[in-house]
Amino acid sequence: MDTLTIVDNRTGKKYEVPVQDGTIRAMDLRQIKAEPGDFGLMTYDPAFMNTANCRSAITYIDGDKGILQYRGYPIEQLAEDSDFLETAYLILFGELPTGAQQHAWTQQITRHTMLHENIKKFMEGFQYDAHPMGIFLSTVGAMSTIYPDAKQIFDKESRMRQTHRLIAKVPSIAAYAYRHSIGRPYIYPDNDLSFSGNFLNMLFKMTELKYQPNPVLVRALDVLFILHADHEQNCSTTAMRGIGSSQVDPYSALAGAAAALYGPLHGGANEAVLRMLNEIGSVARVPEFIKKVKAGGDGSTRLMGFGHRVYKSYDPRAKVIKKIADLVFAVTGKNPLLEIALELERIALQDDYFVSRKLYPNVDFYSGLIYQAMGFPMAMFPVLFAIPRTAGWIAQWEEMLLDPEQKIARPRQIYVGAQTRDYVRREKRA
Ligand code: CMC
Repeated sequence: MDTLTIVDNRTGKKYEVPVQDGTIRAMDLRQIKAEPGDFGLMTYDPAFMNTANCRSAITYIDGDKGILQYRGYPIEQLAEDSDFLETAYLILFGELPTGAQQHAWTQQITRHTMLHENIKKFMEGFQYDAHPMGIFLSTVGAMSTIYPDAKQIFDKESRMRQTHRLIAKVPSIAAYAYRHSIGRPYIYPDNDLSFSGNFLNMLFKMTELKYQPNPVLVRALDVLFILHADHEQNCSTTAMRGIGSSQVDPYSALAGAAAALYGPLHGGANEAVLRMLNEIGSVARVPEFIKKVKAGGDGSTRLMGFGHRVYKSYDPRAKVIKKIADLVFAVTGKNPLLEIALELERIALQDDYFVSRKLYPNVDFYSGLIYQAMGFPMAMFPVLFAIPRTAGWIAQWEEMLLDPEQKIARPRQIYVGAQTRDYVRREKRA
């Protein structure tokens, strides 16, 4: 086994710690003490910049080479040949389904798309202009009250039931949240349609007897769902694992994961990109905006949809999305904001500020343009991210639960506050 030798210059003592999979175990440092009563050495890693939190067999990313794989299958191949439900199966169960497994899985999902009528009533209570992502994450959390059997997290069958319910019902919740926010009646699922086709039905059906989704848009949405299904230890997945490590039910944990996704630096970025493009307003104003981004070193103005903690080259998902954009725009007409986005990308990819920091378009840079062209309002964009990511969250949650090395997530801190002092009565305070 490879090892690392550490010399503690405070004491002159030498330690040898094992190196496995390119990591040392933080707990192996605890033996390194400056004096006998010492707690032992810790690592300090705000924002987990260089800390592996788990061993995972689900998603592989090579950020320098721009590689993304689910269970070993390249994202480009899945985007080309798979569909969302098959990819979700792969992510959850580790292998592509056989024909019989795919059939049974699709049947299970379509049998669970209906929402309990109480959930509908609950959703009716939100303000008329409530953000659909706020409705989405609260409703997912509230589902734990409808399915108390979800508390049996160590029962495999219970976990499977919740998995079916969650994957099947998140599109229904998302669609109801949307219909609520625009004051239209909820549309019940149509189980004759595909996963993505039915979602479009629940969103956009009006008075027609049967909603006929456009097959190009159904396929585009399905591919976007494939691209967003998992992304290893990102902010929301870390939330899912962290909350789940307290052994709470998966609905409560997933509500927390969705809350993490809502933020503009994570799944809210696609909405932020569109707001940014609207604010820029014209191709002529792109250089001025880039100047503002470069001047705002404090992060106050960022080029949204650019940069990534892991990818230091072109995000492979963004490449696939750019191709789908052409197919969608051929049906819907070009999104007028596309020209601004292309100009931003062109300038940024040759500007030293972005090149030297390895800032490239990420998954969110073009996805919002497609969603908007398909008729989704901006506030729905993070919800469109949450639907497929539910598969990844559940797979990561289950992997965490079954990993004998995992315990309740509980980091350490470096205390920098006041030293012990005596309480001062109010009348004696200066
Ligand atoms: N525009 C301008 N400057 C940027 C940007 C950006 N989008 N992203 C990073 N930088 C700069 C940052 O100011 C810093 O510069 P300096 O070294 O001079 O201080 C440097 O690049 C490194 O940035 P960082 O903030 O330390 O990087 P991070 O790994 O903490 O942040 C990120 C990653 C995605 C939060 C960040 O790149 C960002 O805010 N991007 C815009 C939001 C966005 O598009 N988010 C979606 C991410 S992809 C979807 C998902 O999986 O969530």
